[in-house]
Amino acid sequence: MTKPVLLQAIGLLPDVDRALAEHYTVHRLPPAGPERDALLARHGHEITGLVTSARAGFDAALLDRLPRLQVISSFGVGLDTLDVPAAKARAIPVGYTPDVLTDCVADLAFGLLLSIARRIPEGDRYVRAGRWTQQPPVAFPFGRRVSGARLGIVGLGRIGQAIARRATGFDMAVRYHARRPAEGVALEFAPQLTELARWADYLVVSTSGGPSTRHLVDAQVLEALGTKGFLVNIARGTVVDEAALVRALQDKRLGGAALDVFEREPEVPPALFALDNVVLLPHIASATVETRAAMGQRVLDNLAAFYAGQPLVTAA
Ligand code: DGY
Repeated sequence: MTKPVLLQAIGLLPDVDRALAEHYTVHRLPPAGPERDALLARHGHEITGLVTSARAGFDAALLDRLPRLQVISSFGVGLDTLDVPAAKARAIPVGYTPDVLTDCVADLAFGLLLSIARRIPEGDRYVRAGRWTQQPPVAFPFGRRVSGARLGIVGLGRIGQAIARRATGFDMAVRYHARRPAEGVALEFAPQLTELARWADYLVVSTSGGPSTRHLVDAQVLEALGTKGFLVNIARGTVVDEAALVRALQDKRLGGAALDVFEREPEVPPALFALDNVVLLPHIASATVETRAAMGQRVLDNLAAFYAGQPLVTAA
């Protein structure tokens, strides 16, 4: 039997790439340029499956080059880089990998929250720099209490709800803001994000990216969060007005920020490097061995289901 022909937009994990190569005929998509054009001109009409990721995404222009495309399988939960409406208009199902990463992303939100509140990375830098033993001694500044504090969650999807569950272990008071109240959730809903920010000690962003949430956390929200508050973002950099955030942090009008995501990754505003009231990570919320393996398996399972004539395991 001939193998289905796939276009792979990005290398995933070695085991997943090997499994793809074993079960399919795979063409790797070169970066934009003449090589990519040549590959699409030569093989575009043979391709029935596209493998991509939340980082690599796809757009309508790529779909136009793949006239026989029948299925897309993306590695990641984010849909902001995937033109799902363009795929739907062509009746192409789009698989993605929610659920399997929920816990690790929620864990990292708490890791960041604790890191910025208790100054964990700053303490690490203090010890490594020999400042603990310095004479005369330089006192390490106090952090802020997490247990019993007020947590505001922006976006109460799967990940937001997992963050809320973790907060109960810290005896936190939890409220959330979303487009509308979540069904079957007992937490207090905040219709105004600025009001939630004014109330919260910690504001965690866990909403999806894309045009509808662009700069949802703006200068006004940051002002309301103020010097008593900390921003944690494990969602998408675009949800926060990064320039306003940098200004608020530089002017010490915000308690601090712990960020796993940025507006123009992998670019991070250099002004942040000099500040102690920030924690910066390279978009690693789902990056554990276990979760990435489960995401890779879901990419394979979505494809296998499609080519076996079954519905995708998780479709956008
Ligand atoms: C996701 O799955 O969308 C993560 O943010 C990785 O990009």
